[in-house]
Amino acid sequence: MTKSSKADVKVVAFDQRFADRAVPWLAQLYPDANDMEAVRRHAVNIATSPANDLYGVEVNGVPAAIIGILEQNPIERSASLMVISDPVYQGKGLGRPVTAWLLDVLKGGRFVLLRAFCTNLQSKNMLRKVGFREIKVPGTLMEYRYV
Ligand SMILES: CC(C)(COP(=O)(O)OP(=O)(O)OC[C@H]1O[C@@H](n2cnc3c(N)ncnc32)[C@H](O)[C@@H]1OP(=O)(O)O)[C@@H](O)C(=O)NCCC(=O)NCCS
Repeated sequence: MTKSSKADVKVVAFDQRFADRAVPWLAQLYPDANDMEAVRRHAVNIATSPANDLYGVEVNGVPAAIIGILEQNPIERSASLMVISDPVYQGKGLGRPVTAWLLDVLKGGRFVLLRAFCTNLQSKNMLRKVGFREIKVPGTLMEYRYV
């Protein structure tokens, strides 16, 4: 897959193929984590929480990313987005369309506040391009909001 290629990109149900890849993919978000067991527990919590909806993304039938709408709070009408792709598919034009797909799912007024937490340059750039704005929250990671 390249930015100009016509790969077959599909959002599919989150199944065991994605669960098997979740820990190494999620670990990219925590480059300082030296306890992979903690990352594994975090992945299980994300996958099993009733406040989270996870999906898989396939490129030409191969698992390429996990995306999700997390921490859905119908009272606050807020949620967080998650997009994590296999390093092989990064920087090739996959992140932006699948994030736009998540934003489309959320359209319709159910949510008024979306959050995304990120630490690396590629995710910051991508979030800005799909319409998130940076909020500085003292003492935390940078928070991005889409309102
Ligand atoms: C963040 C992530 C989802 C972006 O997806 P992607 O497929 O790599 O991004 P795209 O190829 O669609 O590019 C979208 C924009 O991101 C930015 N970007 C992508 N790769 C970049 C890189 N290596 N350095 C800087 N910016 C980059 C660019 O602004 C790009 O826009 P452009 O194509 O107009 O230049 C993906 O890189 C990833 O999974 N990273 C690891 C996990 C993570 O940090 N997830 C986000 C937190 S929830």
